[in-house]
Amino acid sequence: MTNIAIWASGTGSNAQAIIDYFRENDHVNIAMIVSNRKQAGVIDKAVKEGIPYVYFSKNQIDTNDGVLDKLASSKIEVIVLAGFLLKIPSYLIRAFTDRILNIHPALLPKYGGKGMYGSHVHQAVYDQKETESGISIHLVNEHYDEGKILFQASTDLTPDDRPSDIGRKVLELEHYYYPRVIEAFVENALPQAD
Ligand code: GAR
Repeated sequence: MTNIAIWASGTGSNAQAIIDYFRENDHVNIAMIVSNRKQAGVIDKAVKEGIPYVYFSKNQIDTNDGVLDKLASSKIEVIVLAGFLLKIPSYLIRAFTDRILNIHPALLPKYGGKGMYGSHVHQAVYDQKETESGISIHLVNEHYDEGKILFQASTDLTPDDRPSDIGRKVLELEHYYYPRVIEAFVENALPQAD
């Protein structure tokens, strides 16, 4: 069984899709939700699902004030970022090398980097009159949105699509593919402990 911690700052619709997908799964256990925002919708979802959650402030995350200890005590092996908007500090990347996944709501390397998150991404895609957008699931390294890409999927856009329509189409891809990519990642990249 691989224990996964989902890190999220916002609504947590991806977190919910992942929780639903792995409910009663024999290989993947969503063991913890981490958020840097006390009011984040994802915390309500954790409560409703009975999944342990932890709040860490930006400062606690940046200085490793209990972060690695908490992950170790819950035997977390993989971290899944699902709308987590702070930069991941290097101590965490070193402790979880090639074991932190992120989802980005565009086709990287376009529309990535600092400040490119959520609706900002869809607005930029709209402004450029792109005819497609999509999702990128990648490993996290020390540079925003530059880790190895594991998976991308695209969706066609029409001239009628407003930024909110683009967001809706992209989110649909996210909810479908992110759990499936996590599953493949866990099965291929990690030894399965009994
Ligand atoms: C998702 O669209 C995710 O791709 C994006 O935030 C949204 C979170 O939605 N992440 C980024 O922009 C990271 N740069 P959710 O809270 O409903 O899952």
